[in-house]
Amino acid sequence: MPLNSRSARCVKSNPAELSLAAAIVALLVLLPLSAAGAASDLEEGRVLAKEWCSSCHMVAPGVAPTTTDAAPPFPKMAEDPAYTEERLRSWLWAPHPPMPDFDLSRFEIESLVAYIKSLDSN
Ligand code: HEC
Repeated sequence: MPLNSRSARCVKSNPAELSLAAAIVALLVLLPLSAAGAASDLEEGRVLAKEWCSSCHMVAPGVAPTTTDAAPPFPKMAEDPAYTEERLRSWLWAPHPPMPDFDLSRFEIESLVAYIKSLDSN
Protein backbone atom coordinates (compact mmCIF):
# COMPACT_ATOMS: atom_id res chain seq x y z
CA MET A 1 0.00 0.00 0.00
CA PRO A 2 2.62 2.60 0.93
CA LEU A 3 4.35 1.86 -2.33
CA ASN A 4 1.21 2.53 -4.31
CA SER A 5 0.41 5.81 -2.69
CA ARG A 6 3.99 6.93 -3.20
CA SER A 7 3.82 6.25 -6.90
CA ALA A 8 0.49 8.08 -7.08
CA ARG A 9 2.08 11.10 -5.46
CA CYS A 10 4.94 10.79 -7.90
CA VAL A 11 2.61 10.97 -10.91
CA LYS A 12 0.72 13.91 -9.46
CA SER A 13 3.78 16.06 -9.10
CA ASN A 14 5.26 15.18 -12.48
CA PRO A 15 6.49 18.59 -13.72
CA ALA A 16 5.63 17.84 -17.34
CA GLU A 17 2.02 17.15 -16.42
CA LEU A 18 1.88 20.23 -14.24
CA SER A 19 3.07 22.52 -17.01
CA LEU A 20 0.65 20.88 -19.43
CA ALA A 21 -2.16 21.56 -16.97
CA ALA A 22 -0.97 25.14 -16.59
CA ALA A 23 -0.89 25.56 -20.37
CA ILE A 24 -4.43 24.22 -20.67
CA VAL A 25 -5.66 26.53 -17.94
CA ALA A 26 -3.92 29.50 -19.60
CA LEU A 27 -5.47 28.57 -22.94
CA LEU A 28 -8.94 28.28 -21.44
CA VAL A 29 -8.58 31.68 -19.79
CA LEU A 30 -6.98 33.51 -22.72
CA LEU A 31 -8.91 32.08 -25.68
CA PRO A 32 -12.33 33.55 -24.81
CA LEU A 33 -10.67 36.90 -24.06
CA SER A 34 -9.06 37.20 -27.48
CA ALA A 35 -12.18 35.96 -29.24
CA ALA A 36 -14.29 38.53 -27.42
CA GLY A 37 -11.84 41.29 -28.38
CA ALA A 38 -12.09 40.48 -32.07
CA ALA A 39 -15.86 39.99 -31.99
CA SER A 40 -16.57 43.31 -30.35
CA ASP A 41 -14.94 45.16 -33.24
CA LEU A 42 -16.97 43.24 -35.77
CA GLU A 43 -20.14 43.62 -33.76
CA GLU A 44 -19.53 47.37 -33.38
CA GLY A 45 -19.01 47.61 -37.15
CA ARG A 46 -22.16 45.65 -37.86
CA VAL A 47 -24.25 47.89 -35.60
CA LEU A 48 -22.74 51.11 -37.01
CA ALA A 49 -23.24 49.93 -40.59
CA LYS A 50 -26.86 49.12 -39.93
CA GLU A 51 -27.57 52.42 -38.17
CA TRP A 52 -25.54 54.88 -40.22
CA CYS A 53 -24.87 53.36 -43.63
CA SER A 54 -27.90 51.26 -44.53
CA SER A 55 -29.94 54.14 -45.95
CA CYS A 56 -27.54 54.35 -48.92
CA HIS A 57 -25.49 51.14 -48.89
CA MET A 58 -26.42 47.49 -48.98
CA VAL A 59 -24.81 46.64 -45.62
CA ALA A 60 -25.37 42.88 -45.78
CA PRO A 61 -26.16 40.47 -48.62
CA GLY A 62 -29.79 40.85 -49.67
CA VAL A 63 -30.49 43.93 -47.53
CA ALA A 64 -31.48 46.68 -49.97
CA PRO A 65 -30.56 50.29 -49.11
CA THR A 66 -33.59 52.45 -48.34
CA THR A 67 -32.85 55.72 -50.18
CA THR A 68 -30.48 55.28 -53.12
CA ASP A 69 -28.56 52.68 -55.05
CA ALA A 70 -25.76 55.06 -56.06
CA ALA A 71 -23.58 53.77 -53.22
CA PRO A 72 -21.47 50.63 -53.69
CA PRO A 73 -22.86 47.62 -51.77
CA PHE A 74 -20.72 46.46 -48.81
CA PRO A 75 -20.68 42.80 -50.01
CA LYS A 76 -19.17 44.00 -53.29
CA MET A 77 -16.53 46.01 -51.41
CA ALA A 78 -15.74 42.86 -49.42
CA GLU A 79 -15.10 40.78 -52.50
CA ASP A 80 -13.63 43.31 -54.96
CA PRO A 81 -9.83 43.47 -54.46
CA ALA A 82 -9.92 47.07 -55.73
CA TYR A 83 -11.49 48.02 -52.38
CA THR A 84 -8.43 47.52 -50.21
CA GLU A 85 -8.69 48.03 -46.47
CA GLU A 86 -6.46 51.08 -46.90
CA ARG A 87 -8.84 52.57 -49.46
CA LEU A 88 -11.85 52.02 -47.18
CA ARG A 89 -9.95 53.53 -44.23
CA SER A 90 -8.91 56.68 -46.04
CA TRP A 91 -12.36 57.13 -47.54
CA LEU A 92 -14.00 56.83 -44.12
CA TRP A 93 -11.46 59.24 -42.69
CA ALA A 94 -12.47 61.85 -45.30
CA PRO A 95 -15.49 60.85 -47.42
CA HIS A 96 -16.49 62.89 -50.46
CA PRO A 97 -20.02 64.11 -51.15
CA PRO A 98 -22.66 62.86 -51.70
CA MET A 99 -21.62 60.63 -48.82
CA PRO A 100 -21.87 62.49 -45.51
CA ASP A 101 -18.85 62.84 -43.23
CA PHE A 102 -19.74 61.06 -40.00
CA ASP A 103 -16.59 62.27 -38.24
CA LEU A 104 -15.83 58.67 -37.30
CA SER A 105 -13.33 57.75 -34.61
CA ARG A 106 -10.41 55.47 -35.48
CA PHE A 107 -12.08 52.64 -33.56
CA GLU A 108 -15.31 53.13 -35.51
CA ILE A 109 -13.41 53.17 -38.81
CA GLU A 110 -11.49 49.98 -37.93
CA SER A 111 -14.71 48.30 -36.83
CA LEU A 112 -16.49 49.27 -40.05
CA VAL A 113 -13.57 48.12 -42.23
CA ALA A 114 -13.41 44.81 -40.32
CA TYR A 115 -17.16 44.38 -40.71
CA ILE A 116 -17.17 45.23 -44.44
CA LYS A 117 -14.27 42.84 -45.12
CA SER A 118 -15.95 40.10 -43.07
CA LEU A 119 -18.73 39.98 -45.68
CA ASP A 120 -16.36 38.33 -48.16
CA SER A 121 -17.96 34.94 -48.74
CA ASN A 122 -14.92 33.40 -50.49
C1 HEC B 1 -26.36 59.56 -47.79
C2 HEC B 1 -25.93 58.34 -48.41
C3 HEC B 1 -24.74 57.61 -47.81
C4 HEC B 1 -24.55 57.19 -46.51
C5 HEC B 1 -25.49 57.37 -45.35
C6 HEC B 1 -23.27 56.49 -46.50
N1 HEC B 1 -22.71 56.48 -47.74
FE1 HEC B 1 -20.96 55.58 -48.26
N2 HEC B 1 -21.18 56.25 -50.17
C7 HEC B 1 -22.29 56.92 -50.65
C8 HEC B 1 -22.13 57.15 -52.08
C9 HEC B 1 -23.14 57.84 -52.99
C10 HEC B 1 -20.88 56.61 -52.44
C11 HEC B 1 -20.21 56.59 -53.81
C12 HEC B 1 -19.40 57.84 -53.92
C13 HEC B 1 -18.63 57.88 -55.21
O1 HEC B 1 -18.42 56.84 -55.83
O2 HEC B 1 -18.21 58.99 -55.56
C14 HEC B 1 -20.32 56.04 -51.20
C15 HEC B 1 -19.10 55.39 -51.15
C16 HEC B 1 -18.63 54.73 -50.05
C17 HEC B 1 -17.40 53.97 -50.01
C18 HEC B 1 -16.48 53.66 -51.20
C19 HEC B 1 -15.41 54.68 -51.40
C20 HEC B 1 -14.54 54.27 -52.56
O3 HEC B 1 -13.35 54.09 -52.30
O4 HEC B 1 -15.02 54.13 -53.69
C21 HEC B 1 -17.28 53.47 -48.74
C22 HEC B 1 -16.17 52.59 -48.21
C23 HEC B 1 -18.43 53.91 -48.00
N3 HEC B 1 -19.22 54.68 -48.82
C24 HEC B 1 -18.67 53.57 -46.69
C25 HEC B 1 -19.75 54.05 -45.97
C26 HEC B 1 -19.97 53.74 -44.58
C27 HEC B 1 -19.08 52.82 -43.73
C28 HEC B 1 -21.11 54.41 -44.21
C29 HEC B 1 -21.72 54.45 -42.82
C30 HEC B 1 -20.85 54.91 -41.73
C31 HEC B 1 -21.60 55.12 -45.35
N4 HEC B 1 -20.76 54.87 -46.41
C32 HEC B 1 -22.74 55.90 -45.36
C33 HEC B 1 -23.39 57.32 -49.93
C34 HEC B 1 -23.57 57.14 -48.58
